[in-house]
Amino acid sequence: MHDLKDLRAELETLGVAVGQVELLDETTSTNDVAKRAAKLGAPHLSIFVADSQTAGRGRQGRAWTSARGESILMSVVLRVDCPPARLPPLSLVAGLAVCEALAPVVDVEPRIKWPNDVWLEQKKVAGILVEASIVGAKVDSLVVGIGINVHTRAFPAEIEAIATSVALHSATQPDRASIVARLVQALDRDVVPVARHGLGLVHARIEQHDALRGSRVRGETGEGTAEGIDAEGRLRIRLADGTLQRWVAGEVNLLK
Ligand code: BTN
Repeated sequence: MHDLKDLRAELETLGVAVGQVELLDETTSTNDVAKRAAKLGAPHLSIFVADSQTAGRGRQGRAWTSARGESILMSVVLRVDCPPARLPPLSLVAGLAVCEALAPVVDVEPRIKWPNDVWLEQKKVAGILVEASIVGAKVDSLVVGIGINVHTRAFPAEIEAIATSVALHSATQPDRASIVARLVQALDRDVVPVARHGLGLVHARIEQHDALRGSRVRGETGEGTAEGIDAEGRLRIRLADGTLQRWVAGEVNLLK
C-alpha cells in the first residue's frame, strides 16, 4: 500500500485531530467497516482506508469496483449531532472537500456534479456515498464513503467515456496519502459547522465548483437548464416554460 503508508504522518503535518485511523489491505466495503466502528463508539473523524474492496458499494445499489491500489477507497465517521433534515447538504460539503483536496494536484478545476460526484472536465473522478445512523430525532453518526480514481490510466470500455482519474490530469505521480489528508482536513473544517448552521457557510465555494450551472440536464422528473445550487443544497432547474423547479435529490445527466 505504498503511497498510503504515510497517511498518519501527513495528517499530523496538517495538524488534523483525527479519531481512529485504519489502513486496510482488503475489506468488503470501507463504509461497512466504518458503520460497524461507529456502532462500537468510534470517535468523530475516524478514518477507514482500504487498498481494495471485495464488495464496494455505490449509490442506488450499484457496485463500486476498482483495481487494487489504484484508488482512494475511504470512509469517515462523523459525529454531527444534528437533525436528519440537515443531512442532504453534507454530501455537497464532502464533494467540496474532494474538489479542494484534488485542486493542488490536477491540471483542471475539479467540480461538484450535483449531488454526489466530482468531475474533471465532465468525467467522473470521484463518487460519494453518505450513510447515516439516526437515533430518535438526531443523527447519531454519519459515514461518508468516498471513492476517488487516482492511479488508473485506462478504464473498461463501458465507462471510458465517463470516467477519469487524478493521474490522467497530473504531471507527476499522485500521492494518495496527501490527498486523503487534505480531504480529511477539509471535512474537519466544514462538516460540523454546516451541520449546525447550514450550507450558507460554504455556499459561495459550492457555487464556484458547480459543474452543472448553465447546462441542459435531465433528471428523474424532467429536463431543463441548471441554474445553480441554492443555499439549501437543491439544484435550481429552469424548465422550458420558464418555471423554476428545485430538485432535492436524484440522478442528473447532462443533455449534450
Ligand atoms: C457512487 O458514485 O455511486 C458512490 C461511490 C462510493 C464509493 C466509495 S469507495 C469507499 C466507500 N466504500 C464503499 O463501499 N463505497 C464508498
